[in-house]
Amino acid sequence: MSDSISDITGRSLTALLRLLPAETAHHLALAAMERGMMNLLPAPKAAPPMVPMQVNLPGIGALRHPIGLAAGFDKHAQCPGAFERLGLSFLEIGTVTPMPQPGNPKPRLFRYPETKSIINRMGFNSVGAETVANRVKKLRWSPARVPLGVNIGKNKLTPQERAIDDFVTGINAFADLASWLTINISSPNTPGLRDLATPEFIQDLAASAGTIRGKCWIKIDPDMEKRPFQSLIKAIRQENFRGVILSNTHRVEWPQAGGMSGHPLLSQSNQCLEWAWDVTRGELPMIATGGVLHGTDAYQKLIRGASAIQIYTALVYRGPDAAHRICEELGHELKARGFSSVEECVGSIYR
Ligand code: FNR
Repeated sequence: MSDSISDITGRSLTALLRLLPAETAHHLALAAMERGMMNLLPAPKAAPPMVPMQVNLPGIGALRHPIGLAAGFDKHAQCPGAFERLGLSFLEIGTVTPMPQPGNPKPRLFRYPETKSIINRMGFNSVGAETVANRVKKLRWSPARVPLGVNIGKNKLTPQERAIDDFVTGINAFADLASWLTINISSPNTPGLRDLATPEFIQDLAASAGTIRGKCWIKIDPDMEKRPFQSLIKAIRQENFRGVILSNTHRVEWPQAGGMSGHPLLSQSNQCLEWAWDVTRGELPMIATGGVLHGTDAYQKLIRGASAIQIYTALVYRGPDAAHRICEELGHELKARGFSSVEECVGSIYR
């Protein structure tokens, strides 16, 4: 792969940012992107694909390639346009909570470059649904080019028995603005949130959400046991939610308490795809996230039935052109393995 000026500049900026504390670096990067500084650099150039890369994400539409942005990077919709410019094919903003809340005390974000991983315990720092909804309105986003979804959560102070109300508030705030909604019952940093990952909660949510649930994807944690996980998947399918996002971060206590992302999450989140396929045989669409740093990781998700993939940690360790690089590597991998398109390889491990 030849390196363009924008590739080299992007990687140098990434190396500089890595010298700063993790959350400071994140804020600086987002502030620069928000102020349009990405536009000063030549746009990263995508190499011509080795095979057709288009995929169709059910209910969301056609994507020009399968690599999108995972939730948590642009929580408050500060700069979706900059992520589009970096070549991500679909973008998830949030998690957004109904009311503004500060999240957990700092430090709450930790990088581990030697294992290509991140631990966070941000705890849903959010400017709140109203502010984010106003920002999204002002964007006048064109979803046909790059679909934009919103990940919604519950406020920490909302009692557990009123959790549904928070999700319904989020759904109502963004239903008309977003290409899809993600129901986050899987972050490890909001006490009690993961306890909502039950068939009963899914049934209650379906009743409260009404027909809009056909626009909702449920994001699940990778730490569930197989049986309860598969019961949850069955309920999500039966209640006609649009699909699942597998998976959120792996809960850890060491070397920091929080959720782990990146390379160490890859095999655990791959297993979630297999367990889900086991019960739905491809009838419930899946978006994969967890440990995709290279094209070969993306390939592992697709053959296990994911229709598309979201990345976060890859942007931290591979730099702003991560999506292009992963796509290029994926194209080579598919060609070498005899596939003639991305779509052809989806679910191929089960055939
Ligand atoms: C996240 N992630 C996340 N997920 C979510 O649903 N809502 C959120 O607010 C956040 N916040 C968040 C913050 C930070 C700092 C990180 C690193 C991650 C999880 C993210 O969307 C994704 O599921 C995982 O990071 C796994 O993907 P990668 O990072 O291994 O590509």
